[in-house]
Amino acid sequence: MSLPEKGRDIEELLAEISRLKQDDLPVRGGKVTAYVYDTGRPEVHEAAARAYFEMLEVNTLDPTAFPSVVEMEKQVVGAVAELLGGGSGIFTSGGTESIMLAVKAARDARPVGGRPRMAVPVTAHPAFHKAAHYLGVVVDAVPVDPVTFRASAAAVEAAMTEDTVLVVASAPSYPQGVVDPVAEIAAAASARGVLCHVDACVGGWLLPWLREAGARVPPFDLSVPGVTSLSCDLHKFGYSPKGASVVLFADPALRRKAYFASASWPGYTVINATVQSSKSAGPLGGAWATFQALGRDGYLELGRATLAAARRLREGIAGIPGLRVLGDPESALVAFGSDEVDVFVLSDEARKRGWFLQPQLSYAGIPANIHITVTGVTLRGVEAMLEVIAESAEAARGRGPAALPDGLVDLVASLDLDALDDAAFGELAAAVGVDLGGSGQPEMAVVNAVLDALPADRREAVLIRFLSVIYA
Ligand SMILES: Cc1ncc(COP(=O)(O)O)c(C=O)c1O
Repeated sequence: MSLPEKGRDIEELLAEISRLKQDDLPVRGGKVTAYVYDTGRPEVHEAAARAYFEMLEVNTLDPTAFPSVVEMEKQVVGAVAELLGGGSGIFTSGGTESIMLAVKAARDARPVGGRPRMAVPVTAHPAFHKAAHYLGVVVDAVPVDPVTFRASAAAVEAAMTEDTVLVVASAPSYPQGVVDPVAEIAAAASARGVLCHVDACVGGWLLPWLREAGARVPPFDLSVPGVTSLSCDLHKFGYSPKGASVVLFADPALRRKAYFASASWPGYTVINATVQSSKSAGPLGGAWATFQALGRDGYLELGRATLAAARRLREGIAGIPGLRVLGDPESALVAFGSDEVDVFVLSDEARKRGWFLQPQLSYAGIPANIHITVTGVTLRGVEAMLEVIAESAEAARGRGPAALPDGLVDLVASLDLDALDDAAFGELAAAVGVDLGGSGQPEMAVVNAVLDALPADRREAVLIRFLSVIYA
């Protein structure tokens, strides 16, 4: 695109946006089982969109200039604290930013002799690795139980050193949807004077409603002794538009360690609660309106529907020949694997049938699998989803595992990816059936199989190269 010589008409622009979006996955309807969260109630999303629009141009940079931001944020954060055991919070742009702030606070609250470290179960979200990378903290990876996929407190304890500033538990972890033993992990941390963050990004605004609807949910929030911070994304099970999360701190003094202020320049004084400085209040308005539009009753009703759908899905998948649910998730996230069919091929087959089921690569002894995030809208289509999974499994069985071109994995494993130009990388992608310049949704089984065969650091290098090529 180049900038048009003359301004264009809005209708024309909207038509163009529609064209640009034609190959996107649908954000509503429940056929996309990751990335998007649909209540199945268009009026709720409409309320959020209108409030978002209303706050769009308000800049949260200066709370004294826009007091609406302070009031709205206090209401939203207050509601989250009320549900999750209290504390003082910050409204952030998403799980990654909430986690970044929790790690910064821990690093700055407890200066250590060496490089600060944190003990992170292997099933915890990569946002912790990102925070560590950005903030100069070292990650000590903690194995999880190979059957339940939960972190063990003993393993977390064993990973702690004199320089550990933070330990992490997930409620639940995303890959298998299981809740780590938060009380035990927090107790082990507290016994050594170490802070403990609970990543409830996906579960914070879900698990309490599931519990109220009858699910067995262990204690996981700030009311658990030893838990010092918690992240809860509203743009997941809060059903808010993207850009909405809350990080809570048990102690206001710890929250202050997440803040940043600078008066070291001749311009306006900078005081930021978040990583971003200037930012739109749109997401805050959207989250506030979603809370107001749904209310307790709305969330509880969604929780009931989600619980029923998750139970039906687990039971239905267990009945499909060759498939098995991984672990015993308390949440609405379901992962299934197979020793008989290639799950990456299964995912492609589902895609052909109009459903997106998210493939997950094998890691740390956990086999490759398919992840499904069940949301409020899933229940009404759960039987159709099960039929598609069954049909796709049968088709995948018929097709057999994705066939990898001879020598390709070794080649990718040994390539100097930085020395490769974009055209050569494009040829490599073509060898696994991906047209990098093409539109639509390519078959991904071979790509996933190649990535799956590589160690994590090579996977990362390939993915970074891929990103730079598609944005060339
Ligand atoms: C458990 C967990 N933590 C953190 C995140 C990161 O959230 P975001 O994508 O909003 O940065 C996710 C996202 O899926 C998650 O599931």
